[in-house]
Amino acid sequence: MDKRKIKNAMALIGLMGILLYGACGNEKKEIPKQIYIGVACYDQRDTFLGELLENFKRECRTLEKRGYDISLTIMDAANSQRTQDDQVQEMIGNGCDILCVNLADRTDPSQIITAAQEHDIPIIFFNREPVEEDLMQWEKLYYVGCDAEQSGIMQGEIAAEYINSHPEVDKNEDGKIQYVLLEGEAGHQDAISRTEYSVKTLMKKDVILEKLSYQLADWNRGQAENRMNRLISQYGKKIELVMSNNDEMALGAVEAYRKAGYVREEWPVIFGIDGLEEALEAVKAGEMQGSILNDRVDQAKKMAKMAVELFEGEEFDQESLKEGRYYFSEYQKVDGSNIDEYLNAEETISHSEM
Ligand code: GAL
Ligand code: CA
Repeated sequence: MDKRKIKNAMALIGLMGILLYGACGNEKKEIPKQIYIGVACYDQRDTFLGELLENFKRECRTLEKRGYDISLTIMDAANSQRTQDDQVQEMIGNGCDILCVNLADRTDPSQIITAAQEHDIPIIFFNREPVEEDLMQWEKLYYVGCDAEQSGIMQGEIAAEYINSHPEVDKNEDGKIQYVLLEGEAGHQDAISRTEYSVKTLMKKDVILEKLSYQLADWNRGQAENRMNRLISQYGKKIELVMSNNDEMALGAVEAYRKAGYVREEWPVIFGIDGLEEALEAVKAGEMQGSILNDRVDQAKKMAKMAVELFEGEEFDQESLKEGRYYFSEYQKVDGSNIDEYLNAEETISHSEM
């Protein structure tokens, strides 16, 4: 036989083998189940949200090992609820099985809920919490996020602990801590509770506060830097404490102080929330004194797990959810005492497994 004939014969044997294998059929090869998940988010430029989505994509890829073929569409509403309403319609029109929605306007999910309900598509809202009345409109609506009050309390606690053990924070030695507060976004559940509870907790822990200014900076580093620049020119070295609703804005404050040319002893102490890598580095470097980890790995895992369970129509463990609808992951305190456990350790930040 010449080489070509041998090759053909081998191919034939191979083919017969495959057919036989298939016909015997015991070891059937599972065809992956296709799930189409439509994700709508308010603004992908938001750093924390971007990281949450990266983790979610990763979780969806790991589901492939469990026999699912996930196709994911992520749409960005650039902060407009009308745009988001249209995007959700489009994903429904394209046949999505599950929706994950990060509302542009958390008080206005009604169009999305109506459209999803018409097509019997469950929604997992995440990060931007609809009001309870809306979430209870239909039984296939869920929420994955955090209990914002907890982050406010924890931030107040680490700040109080630091201040009470570092008398030099009170630079003008008047017994009060002159502070500014950087607020995330008007009407956002996290901004409202973080502001309220961080301040209440500081006072409860015997820190006497003097409020200099509250500034809205939309979770955004650049905006916070601008606001801080103005406050620095207004108050100079008077500012002793910066409480920020998130790390991006805290890093904006850090940036403002770096550029203002103050020596480190003249900086205020600065606290954030989210546990972003860059903020943890700032804590390590002594430019920030603490942050509260917003567990994006855990939230992404829960979203992916819920999506599959809802797709399968399994009676999933609704009892473990608050009021059968809410999943809140736990925040964690990060400061000088445990920074090394968190820095460069992305995989350790989730405490709960799927
Ligand atoms: C918060 C987070 C902020 C921002 C916001 C967007 O939970 O701490 O950094 O991402 O969500 O909704
Ligand atoms: Ca003081």
